Amino acid sequence: MSSCHKAYITTPIYYVNDIAHIGHAYTTIIADTLARYSRMSGLDTFFLTGTDEHGQKIEESAKARGKSPQEYADEISATFKNLWDEFGISYDKFIRTTDKDHMKGVQKAFKVMYDNGDIYKDVYKGHYCISCETFFPEIQLVDGEFCPECGKPTTVVEEESYFFKLSKYQDKLLEWYDAHPECILPRSKRNEVIRFVEGGLEDLSITRTSFDWGVKLPEELNDPKHVMYVWLDALMNYVTALGYGTDEAKMDFWPARVHLIGKDILRFHAIYWPAFLMSLGLELPKHIAAHGWWTRDGEKMSKSKGNVINPKEVADAYGLDNFRYFMLREVPFGGDGDFSQKALIDRINSDLGNDLGNLLNRLIGMSGKYFEGRVDASNVTRYYQAELDEVEASLDKLEPLLFEMQIHRYLEELWRPLTVANRAIDKYQPWTLMKEGKEEEAMALNGLIATILAKVAVMLYPVMPQICPKIATALGFTIDNASWQKLIKEKELIKAFTIEKVPPLFPRIEEPLLEQEKPDDTKKEAPKAPVKKEEKKEEGVALIGIDQFFQTSLKVGTVVKAEEVPKSKKLLLLQVDLGEEKPRQIVAGIKEWYSAEDMLDTQVCVVANLKPAKLMGYTSEGMLLAAKDEDGLCMIRPEKPKKPGTPIG
Ligand code: MSP
Repeated sequence: MSSCHKAYITTPIYYVNDIAHIGHAYTTIIADTLARYSRMSGLDTFFLTGTDEHGQKIEESAKARGKSPQEYADEISATFKNLWDEFGISYDKFIRTTDKDHMKGVQKAFKVMYDNGDIYKDVYKGHYCISCETFFPEIQLVDGEFCPECGKPTTVVEEESYFFKLSKYQDKLLEWYDAHPECILPRSKRNEVIRFVEGGLEDLSITRTSFDWGVKLPEELNDPKHVMYVWLDALMNYVTALGYGTDEAKMDFWPARVHLIGKDILRFHAIYWPAFLMSLGLELPKHIAAHGWWTRDGEKMSKSKGNVINPKEVADAYGLDNFRYFMLREVPFGGDGDFSQKALIDRINSDLGNDLGNLLNRLIGMSGKYFEGRVDASNVTRYYQAELDEVEASLDKLEPLLFEMQIHRYLEELWRPLTVANRAIDKYQPWTLMKEGKEEEAMALNGLIATILAKVAVMLYPVMPQICPKIATALGFTIDNASWQKLIKEKELIKAFTIEKVPPLFPRIEEPLLEQEKPDDTKKEAPKAPVKKEEKKEEGVALIGIDQFFQTSLKVGTVVKAEEVPKSKKLLLLQVDLGEEKPRQIVAGIKEWYSAEDMLDTQVCVVANLKPAKLMGYTSEGMLLAAKDEDGLCMIRPEKPKKPGTPIG
């Protein structure tokens, strides 16, 4: 059985009736992040992913394409595997449910459960949704016919079937949830499961006779017309991958540290799977962690809308590590997330470019200018102990956050040391230290910044495994178990080194890099009723809904610096404090009415979520509100002073 030095991490196995989309990439990238962290921290790690290839849905999809189910499964399974290989996903095994060993293991499990008296034969009468591969009692159907999960029509099934005594495990399951508050993450999801189980469990039909594409029952049962229910077959992959029922050498990785799944398949993992395991006499997984769903620009993704996100296109356009960071940082684990290019660009430009990339550039600049590239952290504790303490306090919180699946908070907390570093440079000003002849102090500041960057690079590595090693190389070290041990566990400072210049790691992105996909007209949803003319226009202006209005972020700002744009009759260059880490640069066409001096220290109203634009070579990161008539232009300002960043609306 698994010791605390082992970590077994799994993704769901993906159906081969579709190619990989952002939802699949999301689960796989989270699992990859956990696996990389586990390995880096010295745990003996096994990371499993793969494809789910049996069942009626796959059989029908193959038929529709004129292929045998095996041919079809081979083809689509390879597209998943290839994508994960291109993405550098560090899986240890890619399992396919059509693998011989897997099928043998499933048969063995069936036999064990049968011999334990947990399986009996009866007739199943009820409704089946092929799309969800799920049985539903009549009472749960919508309008007596449609699937309560996906809304598609269900099929009436009346056939001989083997049943698993799920009802027998109801109390034991409730005891398990009770004794292990963290068995289902996030914890709120555990309550949903408990309520469902308390409502009563019916025995589960676990074989079918009306189609063929599945694992046959063990020969001893001599009942060749049955194939196993695809979810029984699929869930068993988590143990057959370790050799259950064949070569059991890897079974010492069991129980899983975490099964990562999407919220739609929680019931299978949190109810059926533990009940099967209890019947098999195997330990239960430590955690089942369910994430939310991704939408695109606020809408559900679907093939018919033509808005499904292809993860490869996003990674190719924006960089794989940037995409990984975005997905993990943007959404609290368990919540639903919205993919928009704007949100992705903001994360890249702001978190990665401004906070991380610029810090490395500042370090390269300071070391080059004052110390011929040398960095030595020997005197850091003498001058900057307070900063170091703050950094270590943040780093100490990280590991638990990761394994509690609070990955967005992990990244948020990991950014605090970067803020400490950027703030330290602004506060202690190496250029002033050098001017005052405090060379030792300036070098210590350099050492502090390098140490912070090194520690952040180590802890960010599992999320950004391509870029962090480049940061480490620039800082003269390698990310591995030894450096994790020294820099993170033993809280050491970075060893003296000579810095290497690196090209900018996060070049600023000004425009969306992917074309918005157009919906496929032939598959459009029912046309909406035409809007009457008088409803649509008012004084020649299109009417908008309140939510469209709220898409504009308006904020109060204070002008903290104002100057003229050289050679421009119209433009002023302003730095406006919006309560963010740095003032925004705004280029405003107001010079005919306001001088730079007029604007300084005044308050303005700013459109804060405009795409950055370049005017006369200066990037403008917002727009000021003003009113203009034949008498000229005046600024729109708050009536009373307001804190910078106060939202307007
Ligand atoms: N084959 C089963 C899993 C068996 S595991 C023993 C299955 N496959 S799936 O391909 O349909 O879905 C795999 C995973 O993708 C699920 O965890 C599901 O939640 C996730 N996602 C599918 N669409 C998604 C989004 N739009 N967003 C996030 N994840 C989504 O279910």
